[in-house]
Amino acid sequence: MLHIRQSPIDMSWTSFYEHSYTPYSGTPKACVVESKSGRFFTGTRIENISFPLTIPAVQAACSICLSEGEIPQKIHVEHRQFDHLNFWENEFNLEVIETAVPPSGHPENLIQKKETDFNSLSRLKSLLKKAVTINSDFPVSALLFTNDGFFEGVNVEVSDWSKGICAERVAIAKAFASGYTEFNKLEIHTKKGEVSSPCGACRQVIAEHLPYHTISLHHADGTLSEHLSVDLLPFSFKSASLKK
Ligand code: THU
Repeated sequence: MLHIRQSPIDMSWTSFYEHSYTPYSGTPKACVVESKSGRFFTGTRIENISFPLTIPAVQAACSICLSEGEIPQKIHVEHRQFDHLNFWENEFNLEVIETAVPPSGHPENLIQKKETDFNSLSRLKSLLKKAVTINSDFPVSALLFTNDGFFEGVNVEVSDWSKGICAERVAIAKAFASGYTEFNKLEIHTKKGEVSSPCGACRQVIAEHLPYHTISLHHADGTLSEHLSVDLLPFSFKSASLKK
């Protein structure tokens, strides 16, 4: 008799927390945002050696949801001790669900596969439409490549300028939430800037996750320049004595 064994899906918070990146504080965090149309988006905490650049799990989950054209409606957390929770709760009038187990709806793995006629620039151009630029009207798109496919990112702005997040970091946040930590390449596009160039904060985050990688910048005039990430943030702060 043929037995088809189905591996049980581990739906404990622990399995979600494992996708966070918290080498400095050792306090992993993850949460799940449910959108108005019933989609589920995981966000995990991603720390940075420069601590203000840490992406809190709540910001990651809400921004990923918004970057997919969805509106956050509920947030599932193990408890209320989450950075940014009050801000995002007020911003979207979120229902906060404190729960010992994550929601049973499957959070989405947002990895994309390259089709045969894949072209980075045309993908980046069409992705710009998803940017949420309520303040700046300056859309940015990013593609983050892994061995298995790629993650898309757009910039997401909210009522508080300081709680917005760049396209590059949305792509990184999506990848971590889906369990990817190894990357091959990052491509970035803006149609309004004189050049498409990652901001200082993104360079610091890129330095941590793509330290010697190619960063391809697709400029508004149609030209492309490729850089090594280490050249975009020379003499950067790092220390072997920080635990990692
Ligand atoms: N922006 C990015 O998304 N990536 C960068 O590296 C540069 C800036 C966004 C942030 C904000 O939404 C808008 O562009 C203007 O700063």
